[in-house]
Amino acid sequence: MAEKWVLMVTAQTPTNIAVIKYWGKRDETLILPINDSISVTLDPAHLCTTTTVAVSPAFDQDRMWLNGKEMSLSGVRYQNCLKEIRARACDVEDEKKGIKITKKDWENLHVHIASYNNFPTAAGLASSAAGFACLVFALGKLMNVKEDNSQLSAIARQGSGSACRSLFGGFVKWIMGKDEDGSDSLAVQLVDEKHWDELVIIIAVVSSRQKETSSTSGMRDTVETSPLIQHRAKEVVPKRVVQMEEAIKNRDFPAFAHLSCADSNQFHAVCLDTTPPIFYMNDTSHRIISCVEKWNRSEGTPQVAYTFDAGPNAVMIARNRKAAALLVQRLLFYFPPNSDTDLSSYVIGDKSILGDAGIKDLNDVEALPPPPEIKDNIPTKNKGDVSYFICTRPGRGPVVLTDESQALLNPETGLPK
Ligand code: DP6
Repeated sequence: MAEKWVLMVTAQTPTNIAVIKYWGKRDETLILPINDSISVTLDPAHLCTTTTVAVSPAFDQDRMWLNGKEMSLSGVRYQNCLKEIRARACDVEDEKKGIKITKKDWENLHVHIASYNNFPTAAGLASSAAGFACLVFALGKLMNVKEDNSQLSAIARQGSGSACRSLFGGFVKWIMGKDEDGSDSLAVQLVDEKHWDELVIIIAVVSSRQKETSSTSGMRDTVETSPLIQHRAKEVVPKRVVQMEEAIKNRDFPAFAHLSCADSNQFHAVCLDTTPPIFYMNDTSHRIISCVEKWNRSEGTPQVAYTFDAGPNAVMIARNRKAAALLVQRLLFYFPPNSDTDLSSYVIGDKSILGDAGIKDLNDVEALPPPPEIKDNIPTKNKGDVSYFICTRPGRGPVVLTDESQALLNPETGLPK
């Protein structure tokens, strides 16, 4: 076998947002949760991770680069994912390149990994979920692993719990499982992204001054100190998961919105019930909730659901494009951009929603009338409280990118391009 070859695979994996939250582990190392959770996968066109993995006999250690910067792989979560996927590697043959790798060879071969997020890593948008899912998925393809995506999800789970739900598109359930070794704690697809394709997702990336408590340490503190979390995991979530599955299956938006908002609010309530209390939402988050709640109430039936993860960003799910356009009008009325920000960088992703809302430029934003439901009670406008909005929709699961120009590693050297 020639010693100079490099074999690579590039994959793209979406992020996901939970509508029934995962919060709390029963096993910290294996990352086993105390309840099931359900998420919607976001369209990778707007939010995704691309990862290239390469193997070569010339590599003398495993190495990884994230957004162009080398980072350490020594953490136990990376090590566990690499160990688990290597243990399942199979024979690989590339006749064109004259490469043959046997199952046994993988134990001694090293990999290079380069990952890139098409959204700001620090914006608190579940970048680790897409990242670990993409790492495991891409390595699985490179190593000719025979396991299906559910089985791969149980490996990605050991990188970050929420990552297991990024192995599928559409709506996904992470089944908590019962086994001590975690083998039955994995993700399954409930419905694909076409099942409920009217939904429009709008994310408000909320400006925040403080660094939030990480999910990992936040949920550990909650499990150790909150009396409410037990009630949530044992009594509330099991019932909600059944109801949420029904709502998704039947495309029942009022039930879906009610459950999503209630579950987000309860997650933030158990954070507040933690000692010391954890505050993930801020004033802007609260104002967004109030805007949605007032509008939903005035319509008599929900137009929009909201959910917040471990940070102040709001994820809003509108029942259809019409509701999304009306939501964008409201959001831009309450949270207009700073005068030095242009509209095209303030609303990113699927900008066609702006057209539906009749908004072409900043003059149209200035001219927005107050939403009818707030009557005389006109609040002050809050410029600068939202950094930007992302318009997206439910999306597909991981894919392999066959176009070599999309690879992040050089095919000759296996180093970042
Ligand atoms: C609030 O998956 O980031 O987003 O398993 O410790 O890596 P670790 O935590 P992580 O927690 C996600 C928490 C959440 C809710 C959710 O995604 O279900």
